[in-house]
Amino acid sequence: MVFGTGLPASLPEMDRLTLLADPAVRSAFGGELGRIIEYHATIGSTQDRARELARTGVAGPTLVVADQQTAGHGRSDKTWLSEPGTALLASWIFRPAPAEPALFALLAGVAVARALRTFGVADLGLKWPNDVWLTGGKIAGCLAHADGGGLVIGIGVNVGQRTMPREIAETATSLARAGHDVDRLALLARLTKELDVIADPAAREDALAEWRKRSITVGREVEVTISDKERIRGRASGLADDGALLVETPYGQQRVIAGEVRVLG
Ligand code: BTN
Repeated sequence: MVFGTGLPASLPEMDRLTLLADPAVRSAFGGELGRIIEYHATIGSTQDRARELARTGVAGPTLVVADQQTAGHGRSDKTWLSEPGTALLASWIFRPAPAEPALFALLAGVAVARALRTFGVADLGLKWPNDVWLTGGKIAGCLAHADGGGLVIGIGVNVGQRTMPREIAETATSLARAGHDVDRLALLARLTKELDVIADPAAREDALAEWRKRSITVGREVEVTISDKERIRGRASGLADDGALLVETPYGQQRVIAGEVRVLG
């Protein structure tokens, strides 16, 4: 049984993610994806919960998904905001860790882009390190942590929001606002499959090549805030194989492994 494609075509307008509240649906769907699924109608953060599970030990590959988060985390201690019932909010535990957290979070952006392409969403751009952009706004972000000998990757995708919270209205958008009607349950399935693809080291080169192709950072003048005390400006010239951003500054090339990028022009 394939939940992502096996249901009548009229259903996608009715978002099906909450069907996972039913243990039978959850178990069948989890079987399809080769994972134990933990579903929450409301949770603080799927990432916190998955990290806790990773630390305490889980029986097998597990993913935590929620209809709503009350304390979602973004990168750099930011909050991840989403209205109830509108976003895909999930965290997957991979054990052993398929890559360093920073590299896997970057490649997860490629997995999001590939998954969305199957729903007809083209023209997705990737902003270093791991943001997915569409029509001038951020639609998804990825976050990875090493925990319990494995890796927890958390992804938030803005799916059904018609309006964005005031705090992020200038930078964020959603699939619905860009005219795409996507079912969160089907997206969860596709995205899980794509994460499994990028987790395979043999697929790394292709994924890096696709990141470079979709990059909206490389080739641009950027300002990178590395820490409270360190900020650099220059031209982003490339992406190293370990996920570092290469920036040409007046003082030579810098390899940036973590930071917030502002595109200047
Ligand atoms: C970012 O762009 O700053 C990363 C955002 C990651 C958000 C997701 S939503 C699901 C998971 N749970 C969290 O608390 N954060 C991640």
